Amino acid sequence: MKKIGIIGAGIRGRMYAHSLHGFPGAQVRAVCDLHERAARAVADDFGLTAYADHRAMVAAEELDAVIVATPDFAHRQAAVDAARAGLHLLIEKPLATTREDAAAIAEAVESAGVQCMVGFENRWNPAVRSIRDAADSGTLGTVLTQNILLSNTYFVPTKMIGWAAKSSPAWFLMSHTVDAALWVNGRTPVSVTARGSRGRLAARGVDTWDVVHALLTFDDDTTANLTSTWVLPDSMPSIVDFQYQAVGDTSAVFVDLQDQSVRTAGPDGFRWPGLLGGEIDGRLQGPPTWMVQDFVSRLDNGEQVGPGLAQGVLVTDVVVAIHESLDSGDTVKIAAGAA
Ligand SMILES: NC(=O)c1ccc[n+]([C@@H]2O[C@H](COP(=O)([O-])OP(=O)(O)OC[C@H]3O[C@@H](n4cnc5c(N)ncnc54)[C@H](O)[C@@H]3O)[C@@H](O)[C@H]2O)c1
Repeated sequence: MKKIGIIGAGIRGRMYAHSLHGFPGAQVRAVCDLHERAARAVADDFGLTAYADHRAMVAAEELDAVIVATPDFAHRQAAVDAARAGLHLLIEKPLATTREDAAAIAEAVESAGVQCMVGFENRWNPAVRSIRDAADSGTLGTVLTQNILLSNTYFVPTKMIGWAAKSSPAWFLMSHTVDAALWVNGRTPVSVTARGSRGRLAARGVDTWDVVHALLTFDDDTTANLTSTWVLPDSMPSIVDFQYQAVGDTSAVFVDLQDQSVRTAGPDGFRWPGLLGGEIDGRLQGPPTWMVQDFVSRLDNGEQVGPGLAQGVLVTDVVVAIHESLDSGDTVKIAAGAA
């Protein structure tokens, strides 16, 4: 039975507490948040102890692992302190938003010899897995191009998360699609050319990129084309649009997760509820739930967890390069190379 602590009691911290509630092989013991009230709200709902400081939680509880679910830019301190205390880690994506933070986390994890999973939840998304399976089995042939679009309505950066100005569509969304593109084609990314625009979100008080396009080039000269925006109209029936096209030299796969075949019309307007989440008989389901359950089951069985540190560092490196290309207008080489 693995004893788990959660750092960050926001949307994801609550979801993880719910996902592991009653799950065999794991017991979430404690949750912490800089805002103690947020920690207490999650603690009260799931029978946990609340803390306002992750160091106090780590010192007081006899934990085996922590889940780091703080904002994108605030993973480093929690991850480094927990690794140094000998705890295994599930760190939300992106692993970090600077190369320095990623290197500090990597150093702490490697010198402590703990396990580290990075929360690329689409590895547990059946639609994305079907693309990876088609690539893996040879059905696609050589993957020639991937076109991946993952975007949100204005609601996400302006209302859902309070720290969007310190993130971007590239950090929040494209970290998922960079991971997926590398996972599907298994190639080494060598350079990126990015273009984007900003101003619409800034006018609403959130000074970050509105739109980001990134063209990744791999070591076999094939390419992937990624787009993420935070400026879809709030009238959309869903806050997320996810479309994925993978074209190989023998076949292609097309995924469209925007409308998952359930449509509702009611007092709140017309909606496309997602099928990749929600509860069945009070138990949460969906990719992030299956991901965290896989994390604790593997720890409990003494198995390796993943996607791990190397992939988290590489994806951070690629997204840093995307931002460098957005700022400079140049094509930026990707130094790290291997995952
Ligand atoms: N919300 C989503 O749909 C989603 C999906 C996938 C991944 N993620 C990732 O999960 C992470 C968390 O996102 P979220 O949506 O839960 O954000 P959130 O703002 O809802 O929650 C983050 C919480 O962390 C707390 N916090 C900040 N610094 C802290 C610290 N040092 N110690 C303890 N608590 C701290 C904040 O007070 C806040 O309550 C991000 O990296 C995000 O990219 C979010």
